[in-house]
Amino acid sequence: MEGIDGCGKSTQATLLQDKLKKNKIPFISIREPGGTAAGESIRQILLQTGYSLTAEAELLLYMAARSELSRQVITPALISGKIVLCDRFTDSTIAYQGYGSGIELQWINALNWKATGGRLPDLTFLLDLSVEEAALRRGSAADRMEKKDFYYHQRVHQGYLAIARREPERVMVFDAAVQAEIICSNIWQTLSKFIDNRTKMGSKHEF
Ligand SMILES: Nc1ncnc2c1ncn2[C@@H]1O[C@H](COP(=O)(O)OP(=O)(O)O)[C@@H](O)[C@H]1O
Ligand SMILES: [Mg+2]
Repeated sequence: MEGIDGCGKSTQATLLQDKLKKNKIPFISIREPGGTAAGESIRQILLQTGYSLTAEAELLLYMAARSELSRQVITPALISGKIVLCDRFTDSTIAYQGYGSGIELQWINALNWKATGGRLPDLTFLLDLSVEEAALRRGSAADRMEKKDFYYHQRVHQGYLAIARREPERVMVFDAAVQAEIICSNIWQTLSKFIDNRTKMGSKHEF
């Protein structure tokens, strides 16, 4: 699940978990940054309002958490045949630290590759919502990343759309301004088809 703060990722992640449970499809659900002991500590550093981190330090902390998560949690789950549902992943770093903060995309792509061991998501659901609408949904209690200014969030939003244009087969864009249940059923159409195809092919991931 990808998209700017307040677009509805966590809401959709919860709704999708219900669908997966109902359909008896084995899965794990995780969020970034976090998901491991070290990752949760890194999350605290990244989201606490007391720190003023350089964009580079931010990038490297996200990558450190991702490296732990990929090797300790994601890869073992995929090997055992589970779906891995992740709230934010590699595209968040491209959108925020790349398009938002202006770090070279080449450097971010190389670090993403290292952090994940080259395993990128099969499908990415981008929830597309305007910056104004997302800010309204979030209300006032903003964490350190959310407090960045309007133009920063505009760049992040445009960055996400640029990623989707570059990789239309992986990144599906959903209108996030409609009712949560409608978004979920749209996402489920794509996800269930993907799962059916995987099952028919009898293949898990190749390692
Ligand atoms: N489709 C929707 N329509 C209206 N409000 C929504 C919708 N999806 C989520 N919300 C609300 O918007 C706020 C942010 O949603 P959340 O899922 O936490 O977003 P994110 O995880 O992307 O930051 C929450 O208060 C949530 O209840
Ligand atoms: Mg969330």
